[in-house]
Amino acid sequence: MANTILIGAQWGDEGKGKIIDVLTESADFVVRSQGGSNAGHTVRVGDQQYILHLIPSGILHKKTKSVIGNGVVIDPLTLVAEIDELEGLGVRVGGNLFISEKAHVVMPYHRELEACSENRRGKNQIGTTRRGIGPAYMDKMGRGGLRMIDLIDKKKLIDRVTFRVRENNRLIKALGGKAVSLKKTLTDYEKAASRLRPYIINTLPLLHKAVNNGANVLFEGAQGSYLDIDHGTYPFVTSSNTTSGGACTGSGIPPNKIDRVIGVMKAYTTRVGGGPLPTESEAIGDMLHGMGREFGATTGRPRRCGWLDAVTLRQSVMVNGIDDLAITNLDGLDTLEEIKICTHYRLDGRRVNFVPSDLEDLARCRAVYRSFPGWLKDTSGIREWKKLPLNARRYLKVVAELAGAKLMIVSIGPARDQTIFL
Ligand code: IMO
Ligand code: MG
Repeated sequence: MANTILIGAQWGDEGKGKIIDVLTESADFVVRSQGGSNAGHTVRVGDQQYILHLIPSGILHKKTKSVIGNGVVIDPLTLVAEIDELEGLGVRVGGNLFISEKAHVVMPYHRELEACSENRRGKNQIGTTRRGIGPAYMDKMGRGGLRMIDLIDKKKLIDRVTFRVRENNRLIKALGGKAVSLKKTLTDYEKAASRLRPYIINTLPLLHKAVNNGANVLFEGAQGSYLDIDHGTYPFVTSSNTTSGGACTGSGIPPNKIDRVIGVMKAYTTRVGGGPLPTESEAIGDMLHGMGREFGATTGRPRRCGWLDAVTLRQSVMVNGIDDLAITNLDGLDTLEEIKICTHYRLDGRRVNFVPSDLEDLARCRAVYRSFPGWLKDTSGIREWKKLPLNARRYLKVVAELAGAKLMIVSIGPARDQTIFL
């Protein structure tokens, strides 16, 4: 399998957790390199469903090592809860999980600062997951953040947390928010630190040794390409590089050690939170929600839905260097008589083939569609490419052609075996 970066090619929730889980069969390491507990990666193993936020999905395979890289922002309390939950379900975490000492720490004041910022925006809210992700990355870039290594020594932890809580409380008060309790923060973080200490290491030698010894490393992207801080629909984005480059900076594994990039995408489009979505369709949303699909794994919010957008997809293939595509949720389209793909946009009488950088322009773009006959057949039980209905195969081939990448996997349900390899 070699060293593979797996990223979301759309706005997150593409089914990355499920595809990672399937690919982990042949991975020695699974590495998270950006984002934090804003991610919600759903993996179904038998009858058990797991929703992972911070821990790489590789943890569900006994022989795979899981690494939380330097580029991730970690809420230690959430992480401890996730470890406890997994262990409660019989998953072995100790000995299989490694946390970079350079990863930054999400603090309670980050959540509070985010609430202040979102509330102030009123109807222009980003619609964040309110997990403190943005302010934690602001602190990192502003060079005021705490890192996991600061949790190792109890005395240093107390000093640093005390200083940072006091400083941030001044800011929170000025913004009309609720000050964070220093006492509770110290107690909570010391408790979490004592649980996490055995996992915190310098992950660089570990990963480089593995790579030099020919191990297969799988990078588990979080969020999606259009939530990328540089390449997404700014400011309606998350605060990290969700595109493939983020996997290198967020882990310390250089670009020339990467063998390929897999883009995961849904057979249609969804997004949670605010911001433009050129192919949004209420009818598709109603249909999918009616099937009990497309509710957020982290926040439970109903996702906004729409037709597949080949404009965003093509650009995603370019920016990420996507070699192979994994298309998920094909079965979500099973009952449609007509299926559409947006091939380009029109704006002020002009054809638009790239995603406009100006959000107002993007919001004014009119999606132009190509129409396909549906297959009107339940695909969830199919296990071979050749057995897929002809119209489904045609649709998938056109998607890959428009995207400019190779079709590798088709997923027709959440279970491990509901996966077709090409
Ligand atoms: P996974 O990894 C979908 C969205 C939020 C919001 C914006 C910013 O499960 O695909 P943030 O809390 O990151 O500051 O919110 O990004 N968002 C996601 N949407 N899937 C995710 O993760 C997301 N993580 C963040 O809804 O619009
Ligand atoms: Mg999700």
